[in-house]
Amino acid sequence: MNINKYKDLRERKEKIMLGGGEARIQKQHEKGKLTARERLALLFDEGTFVEMDAFVKHRCVNFGMEKKEIPGEGVVTGYGQVDGRLVYAFAQDFTVIGGSLGEMHAQKICKVQDNALKVGAPVVGINDSGGARIQEGVNSLRGYGDIFYRNTRASGVIPQISVIMGPCAGGAVYSPALTDFVMMVEGPSKMFITGPQVIKAVTGEEVSAAELGGAMTHSSVSGVATFISSNDEECLAQIRRLLSFLPSNNTEVTPPAENDDDPNRLIPELNTTIPDNKNKPFDMKDVISRIVDQGDYFEYQPYYATNIVTCFVRMNGRTVGVVANQPKSLAGCLDINASDKAARFVRTCDVFNIPILTIVDVPGFLPGINQEYGGIIRHGAKLLYAYSEATVPLVTLIVRKAYGGAYIAMGSKHLGGDISLAWPTAEIAVMGPSGAANVIFRKEIKQADDPAAMRIEKIKEYTDKFSTPYIAAELGYIDDVIDPAESRIRLINAFDMLASKREHMPAKKHGNIPL
Ligand code: HXC
Repeated sequence: MNINKYKDLRERKEKIMLGGGEARIQKQHEKGKLTARERLALLFDEGTFVEMDAFVKHRCVNFGMEKKEIPGEGVVTGYGQVDGRLVYAFAQDFTVIGGSLGEMHAQKICKVQDNALKVGAPVVGINDSGGARIQEGVNSLRGYGDIFYRNTRASGVIPQISVIMGPCAGGAVYSPALTDFVMMVEGPSKMFITGPQVIKAVTGEEVSAAELGGAMTHSSVSGVATFISSNDEECLAQIRRLLSFLPSNNTEVTPPAENDDDPNRLIPELNTTIPDNKNKPFDMKDVISRIVDQGDYFEYQPYYATNIVTCFVRMNGRTVGVVANQPKSLAGCLDINASDKAARFVRTCDVFNIPILTIVDVPGFLPGINQEYGGIIRHGAKLLYAYSEATVPLVTLIVRKAYGGAYIAMGSKHLGGDISLAWPTAEIAVMGPSGAANVIFRKEIKQADDPAAMRIEKIKEYTDKFSTPYIAAELGYIDDVIDPAESRIRLINAFDMLASKREHMPAKKHGNIPL
């Protein structure tokens, strides 16, 4: 081949690699952001990224666009390895026409989605874009539609992770919202359907972009973001960590990690975890970290609905998803947001063959007019539905309260739980002793010479009879009451025993989860 052709190829590629050019790259860095290629280099194992479609060009001839060069079409796409496993990715390049999405930009992303689905590999989408490329009009809207369609077709087949590392506005936010996980970076990340200016014009409300759609807002208020990081580097490291907990697709299980934490480790500290005063909170995260491998847990939505903790952990090297009430927050009650968060997490685990450990200390569903008007019935039903349709191994550990409907909802045997264990401190009942005594002994208390003393006596009577795990154990609803110190051993044993669980839902088009 003519030597000039090599030179020509090299020059063409060099130009594309430079994206929007030195000045724009510098501007990107000044905003505390990495470029698309720098991000991909950190995401993938060194030297494994293979770029596709670098030469793709737009076809727009509106507003003098035919004269405009857009290197790489404003998005870098391809595949590579993360910890030796195949992963596809696209990264919008803000240095090139603001990473805006036109017809061919979208086509590049769709090719990544199609290929990843064909070979069964996760997709990581890095969003940093001014949204629909205005000059391309409806063609860019069509591009978004094509991406949403593929997001949905791939849902439940391959893990899809969206990373927001810059603006993400208008309908563009819906591709991330359709994926399994949304990561945001504090500072540059913004997500909203309509920005502050439009809101001010339409409703008169004033709000800053960060307050409206920043990382903290979406991780603590709206629940749109599943994880947040303080910068691009930390975020990309988190994505690698998240991928380590996930299988490549729904037909596989996550490869086990090496484990040097003894599966037969006793945890005597757990014998003193539950305070004598049953209304005193304790930190459920202490229980989780003591039980799991190396005390290591990766929390999902750590700032949203903090009355429930959801996280990925490893038990003897195997990935497990944990759902646990947090007595430190709202006494661990289930409310609308906690139900949504837990239901989504249970379904995420179930589609990716991740067994679920449920740790229970729940006084019930949160009472309140706002909760009722907000549809706690519908939202709570999501959690019932998610557990009932899950076919992965379900192991439940009741450590203290398990009252009423919330007892059923938290992975009980009645919703298909496989193994239910309880600590001797467990209280499995229709409601707490004080409320129960008020209802069933109302007459005796009212007619007593000393109603207050009678009330205390009746509460004690109820507590002695029902606030234990033993009635449930007598009925087989609890498989065993265990010494808390043996929790790790017994839970690992349960997951080992259930590893070959095979269960299928009745044939149907799809279920109709109460949305
Ligand atoms: C074309 C765009 C663009 C867009 C940015 N650019 N957004 N070009 N279409 N949507 C260009 C700018 O003209 C500029 O080009 C370059 O990208 C960098 O943008 P700046 O404005 O200089 O950057 P910055 O100051 O950081 O501001 C970023 C921004 C702002 C906040 C994102 O660019 C902005 O508001 N853009 C428009 C956002 C928008 O309204 N998008 C449409 C949303 S509607 P030059 O050559 O001057 O450097 C939508 C519908 C989707 O997305 C529906 C899906 C269903």
